[in-house]
Amino acid sequence: MTTTQDPKSTRQHEIPSYLDPNNIGPYEIFLEQVERVTPYLGKLAYWVETLKRPKRILVVDVPVHLDDGSVAHFEGYRVQHNTSRGPAKGGVRYHQDVTLSEVMALSAWMTVKNAAVNLPYGGGKGGIRIDPRKYSTGELERVTRRYTTEIGLIIGPEKDIPAPDVNTGPQTMAWMMDTYSMNVGRTATGVVTGKPVSLGGSLGRADATGRGVFVTGAEAMLKLGMPMQGARIAVQGFGNVGEAAARIFHEHGAKIVAIQDVTGTIACETGIDPAVALAHLRQSGSITGLEGTDTLQRDEFWDVACDVLIPAALEKQITLENAGRIQARLIVEGANGPTIPAADDLLAERGVTVVPDVLANAGGVTVSYFEWVQDFSSFFWTEDEINNRLDRIMQDAFRSLWDVKERHGVTLRTAVYIVACTRVLEARALRGLYP
Ligand SMILES: NC(=O)c1ccc[n+]([C@@H]2O[C@H](COP(=O)([O-])OP(=O)(O)OC[C@H]3O[C@@H](n4cnc5c(N)ncnc54)[C@H](O)[C@@H]3O)[C@@H](O)[C@H]2O)c1
Repeated sequence: MTTTQDPKSTRQHEIPSYLDPNNIGPYEIFLEQVERVTPYLGKLAYWVETLKRPKRILVVDVPVHLDDGSVAHFEGYRVQHNTSRGPAKGGVRYHQDVTLSEVMALSAWMTVKNAAVNLPYGGGKGGIRIDPRKYSTGELERVTRRYTTEIGLIIGPEKDIPAPDVNTGPQTMAWMMDTYSMNVGRTATGVVTGKPVSLGGSLGRADATGRGVFVTGAEAMLKLGMPMQGARIAVQGFGNVGEAAARIFHEHGAKIVAIQDVTGTIACETGIDPAVALAHLRQSGSITGLEGTDTLQRDEFWDVACDVLIPAALEKQITLENAGRIQARLIVEGANGPTIPAADDLLAERGVTVVPDVLANAGGVTVSYFEWVQDFSSFFWTEDEINNRLDRIMQDAFRSLWDVKERHGVTLRTAVYIVACTRVLEARALRGLYP
């Protein structure tokens, strides 16, 4: 027997009424990924419908006074996809294109990611539909505080723990922590992670996602017999994840041959020093124009001769239009959902190995977990302790998931989904349905 929302429906997926069936958005990618893993779930497939719909969605209006005295309203979301294995955990994104479908997909990927590296969390995600570049620091603070108050109904150190994502960072988390603490009448550092170190943040958190991208990428290179020294790396996205990943690969002898961000694309045959590129970006406001590099057209990024490609910007970047052109043998997904499923198939046919987002970028949430544990015990670890624990968790997860991939003859992404969905649904089955 199976469980469905509507036993009389003939659709492959039940599309909730709050999504547009003709334009489902990023959540469709997740639904397809669940479909692919279902044959491997055995008896637990009975519970698979649980994964296809988020447990809880909160849509909020975020009204704030702007500096000019007017009032602006922004759409805000917090989605808790699954809490079978523990409290929801996942970032908050500020972007003008945020949609409910996107936040649903991102929250679902957090469920899979947390289970893949065996953290005691479910999956959550939040977002505000805002272009933060257009607002002052004071306006962004007011947006953050009002949003935090609105979602304060469902977040909390034991319920749902937000963290940074695109266009949010330690300062955003400091405001969120302060707002939540004011509302509950005590300092609750454990309500968010990715905080500044002076406010209960963890050493090592800033680089953690990029470090995890490096660790899993290096493990994959070992498996594929690719030397690190001189390996040609192309990075899309030069923010928290992309910059740290590029820097750590560079420190280990790899060569960064191309970088693309929202401001443009640069390439250099002899390699780009990420520290110099970052200084140039900070000083000039653009990645282009860096001495010794060529500026490429945006689309030419995908043709760059490289061994490893790291998408670390936004979702749906690797599509059927560019997947056939990518020259890398290895793709390490720093971003969430950068590859659409059809492009994934094409890459697999072409023999390109993909370390999927739900494994490759799990370093951030792993150190967030360390931060949360440290906040609860008010006992803080050294950066070496954190990095060593992070490396071990990422290496162990990579190696055991690679074994599953070999055993089933599937892609690494499917292997991660098999292990993660099995863990989530096992918890579901053991807990049973309430009432
Ligand atoms: N920050 C984390 O700890 C973390 C953890 C896991 C996953 N991720 C994922 O990694 C990705 C990047 O997150 P981040 O925290 O580094 O964000 P960020 O805001 O620090 O950086 C985003 C980068 O992407 C670039 N970018 C934006 N639009 C682009 C476009 N159209 N083309 C090329 N580049 C573009 C920006 O210029 C910037 O360099 C997101 O998918 C996020 O969900 C982040």
